[in-house]
Amino acid sequence: MAHVNENYAKLPGSYLFSEIARRTAAYAEAHPEADLIKMGIGDVTRPLAPAVIAAMHAAVDDLASSETFHGYGPEQGYDFLREAIQQADFAARGVDIAVDEIFVSDGAKSDCGNIGDILSVNNKIAVCDPVYPVYVDTNAMAGRAGEYDEQAQGWSNIYYMPTTAENGFAPELPKEPVDVIYLCSPSNPTGTVLNAEQLKTWVDYANQQDAIIMFDAAYERFITEEGVPHSIYEVPGAKTCAIEFRSFSKTAGFTGARCGYTVVPHELVRDGQSLHDLWNRRQTTKFNGASYVIQRGAAAIYSEEGAAQVEETLDYYRKNAAVIKEGLEAAGFTVFGAVNSPYIWCQTPSGMGSWEFFDKLLTEANIITTPGAGFGPSGEGYVRLTAFGDAERTVLAMERIKNLMAGE
Ligand code: MLT
Repeated sequence: MAHVNENYAKLPGSYLFSEIARRTAAYAEAHPEADLIKMGIGDVTRPLAPAVIAAMHAAVDDLASSETFHGYGPEQGYDFLREAIQQADFAARGVDIAVDEIFVSDGAKSDCGNIGDILSVNNKIAVCDPVYPVYVDTNAMAGRAGEYDEQAQGWSNIYYMPTTAENGFAPELPKEPVDVIYLCSPSNPTGTVLNAEQLKTWVDYANQQDAIIMFDAAYERFITEEGVPHSIYEVPGAKTCAIEFRSFSKTAGFTGARCGYTVVPHELVRDGQSLHDLWNRRQTTKFNGASYVIQRGAAAIYSEEGAAQVEETLDYYRKNAAVIKEGLEAAGFTVFGAVNSPYIWCQTPSGMGSWEFFDKLLTEANIITTPGAGFGPSGEGYVRLTAFGDAERTVLAMERIKNLMAGE
């Protein structure tokens, strides 16, 4: 008789964004006339850059002829892309990362989940609260999280580090030993960042404890302030304790195309084993590489023309973020994020619960947000809005919220 992975049975409810989609679909079905504005899931809306499209078209043509046809590619990614990444994302910032430390993939979400394959089930995991649910759920699926406590809304074997307005959204060092620490800066969901000094504290801690930092830098292109590292490897000592995840989703519109990469430095060794070699072993066994066409498109981001086009789109979203921040503040809300991030973390009015405020915005303003409580107990009392929408619709959303609050 076959048995299922019993850890899945312990998972609470559905994945956050599926639950939001379910509630939204139910509302839309009951109110087909509603003009819904989507500010929930962080999904981009602007088309891919023309240089990316041209490169993808040319790559499709390559596949049409036996002289230029590409079958299986290298599981780690094509050198044309890895070299472009190494130059633009690391060398240009003075960061020493080797081409073969870069593993191209179909996105940061998959890598964040898959990385657990090379870690012992006995590791103690530490996450921020609120947190991107993928870190927690994938560890729960692997059996590393213990039991889910409905009342505490947390797992017995996960160490939660509250990041709140009170501590400036900077997690404090754990009071008990932990082995794997997930950090995301700019943070999903709070939109706040860790500065160089704060990251240095974490790097030193991880090196002292022989812990590993899983650093999610998916939103680094939204950083506008000085002194905020774009990569954890800007911090001395990080190569012996950190793995970094990068994504082309939010930076270049690849949420549908799917491409990202993970950096695993050679210097990262635990139990006498190279994490780089283990990840290479995992990828060569379970992954056949991101598609040739998509990697050609991703490489075009690094061309002069592509880089300028991508920057234009990023500016479009950055302006939306500013519009949301200003609009919400004008409506009387306390907000965080937006400055270095496409996410705006907004306190609910009068201590309202975050699912309650989500429902209110959905039903009374027809705006879809993400309830903060869905990211963890410390997210209660907040909703998250994203800047990835259409500029005019973003302005309209702020008008609706202002009108809604004026009528309260
Ligand atoms: C989010 O809205 O948090 C993200 O879009 C989810 C993701 O990147 O998987």
